[in-house]
Amino acid sequence: WVVMATGRSPTNIAVIKYWGKRDENLILPINDSISLTLDPLHLSATTTAAVSPSFTRDRMWLNGKEISLSGERYQKCLREIRRRANEVSDAEKGIVIKKEDWERLHVHISSYNNFPTAAGLASSAAGFACLVFTLAKLMNLKDDLGQISSIARQGSGSACRSLYGGFVKWAMGNNTDGSDSLAIQLAEETHWTDLVIIIAVVSSKQKETSSTSGMRESVQTSALIKHRAETVVPARTLKMEEAITNRDFASFAKLTCADSNQFHAVCLDTSPPIFYMNDTSHRIINLVEKWNISEGTPQVAYTFDAGPNAVLVSPNRKTAALLLQRLLFHFPPNKDINLTSFVVGDKTI
Ligand code: DP6
Repeated sequence: WVVMATGRSPTNIAVIKYWGKRDENLILPINDSISLTLDPLHLSATTTAAVSPSFTRDRMWLNGKEISLSGERYQKCLREIRRRANEVSDAEKGIVIKKEDWERLHVHISSYNNFPTAAGLASSAAGFACLVFTLAKLMNLKDDLGQISSIARQGSGSACRSLYGGFVKWAMGNNTDGSDSLAIQLAEETHWTDLVIIIAVVSSKQKETSSTSGMRESVQTSALIKHRAETVVPARTLKMEEAITNRDFASFAKLTCADSNQFHAVCLDTSPPIFYMNDTSHRIINLVEKWNISEGTPQVAYTFDAGPNAVLVSPNRKTAALLLQRLLFHFPPNKDINLTSFVVGDKTI
């Protein structure tokens, strides 16, 4: 016999960035972060997990190719889910998997993501969120989404925010065991439906410094990161929550741009400095800043993760159309940039 479960997770884009861990092992951050979950149409992971007494070891395939599960992050997630697993029964098929059976049964996992391969966009957030959620479904975990998010966090920090749809905060927590470092939904996707998100892919090259090692180097060498985590982000997080609650785009945009710029300033303040943005990224920032200044109020927000691709948020479809026009005027399509638009989307299902 075989028992299976399937899940799908969208990716998320941080508007208050997570950068820096206080515990590398448990993946505990030095500050709160806030993100928007995207609709899963273009960027999501879909995972199917199966259990059968005929399986002799845990195995996983990613986009059809077998990958190793021996990495510490995979092992931690698997161990934690097995520890919390419960009985599963299917009377029709006469199958009963007892709680204690999960320790000796093996799983086969197949995961696909629809991230365009050349997109240069990280898929680990959606990937780990989906892996953990699907295994939790298969093994009948009774824990709430917040608890599930704290398991996903141990796969990749940003993954914990993909469990919820809409607007999500990863509360850094205080406990040394990480039990209160989890995702919380601030508002559902239906709360602010006017927002349009445009991702401008400016390079499909693999980034040179991974987030994991980049943030480690920042924590070890940057003086600015301490000020950011202790003073700037706590105040900014409160303001961002308020801006989201009030659908106040002007504040939302100012905070989003400021936080992206400070995150990249921390990268520059790291020794040796880390450059994630390129010339095209800087030109996009200029274009948006000039436009915002000329209108007297923010029209568009920009944010950049650990790479040169721009994520642009506009308050409505009309502004999004104007933004696309301006981008296409300044950057030849397909040569410099590739554009895709999104709306704020639903949770992992
Ligand atoms: C710049 O979640 O990829 O995207 O926890 O080491 O797996 P690990 O790092 P990861 O870092 C994401 C960093 C970021 C900002 C963010 O998403 O908040």
